[in-house]
Amino acid sequence: MGRVEGKVALVTGGGSGLGRADCIALAQEGAKVVVTDIDREGGEETVRLAGGDCIFLEHDVADEERWKEVIAETLKTYGKLNVLVNNAGMLIPGDVETIDTKIWRIHQQIHMDGCFFGIKYGIEAMKGNGEMCSIINVSSTTALIGYGDVFAYQACKGAIRSMSKGAATTCQDRGYTIRVNSIHPGVITTPLVTNMQAGIELPEGVEPPPPPVWGFGEPMDVGYMVLYLASDESKFVNGTEMVIDNASIIHP
Ligand SMILES: NC(=O)c1ccc[n+]([C@@H]2O[C@H](COP(=O)([O-])OP(=O)(O)OC[C@H]3O[C@@H](n4cnc5c(N)ncnc54)[C@H](O)[C@@H]3O)[C@@H](O)[C@H]2O)c1
Repeated sequence: MGRVEGKVALVTGGGSGLGRADCIALAQEGAKVVVTDIDREGGEETVRLAGGDCIFLEHDVADEERWKEVIAETLKTYGKLNVLVNNAGMLIPGDVETIDTKIWRIHQQIHMDGCFFGIKYGIEAMKGNGEMCSIINVSSTTALIGYGDVFAYQACKGAIRSMSKGAATTCQDRGYTIRVNSIHPGVITTPLVTNMQAGIELPEGVEPPPPPVWGFGEPMDVGYMVLYLASDESKFVNGTEMVIDNASIIHP
């Protein structure tokens, strides 16, 4: 029996990096997976790599109307939703003195609006199904300690941590069988990180960050955490923050 057999999962930003690892981990353990992304090619490749019963839907997480359609399409295809991974994201480095308002707003739209819409419409879809459900919000170690050079990103990841706790409390108070947790990866080798390390598309004057002294994680280090939180093995884990960082935040 797979660890998430019979569950239906939706993963945003599933066309690359951590989202792809999540989709593969969930599909391999028996979940039906809806892979969503703005990148159709990447998303379809994930469906192919994950095998099992998966579909791809094009989806910009900053678009509230599209969220409603994607959830409706999920319910039409698979009849229910048990697991939502709010994973889609991006990062443009910059500190508080150099970041401009346009870049600040882009981060807010993708990370904060995207996560808010996901939690809101995810709860709406899950709350009546009488099954154990789990919402997993991808935050970051930047939500937990100071990093001067990723100001807008860090602000949004902090908000995602707080939103997770607020939603977990509401679900519990209302008797919904929905757990909500945030996960906090350290530096993991995905295109987001490798492009930054290589200096690709960095704003003028921003230097590539040095490699972390505690090393890089692999996407499946996060995929296994998502699998655990998606499964009923974690039924007593709720409203908390799971850090996957090889001790970087306690030993910087
Ligand atoms: N890689 C790391 O070290 C690390 C650490 C902590 C947190 N994270 C977070 O993990 C998540 C995944 O990042 P990753 O490292 O896999 O990056 P990635 O660039 O490999 O993948 C991000 C995916 O999100 C998609 N995406 C971007 N904007 C979108 C939008 N508006 N709507 C839908 N999809 C969109 C991209 O097309 C891409 O497929 C992000 O939220 C990121 O902030 C990553």
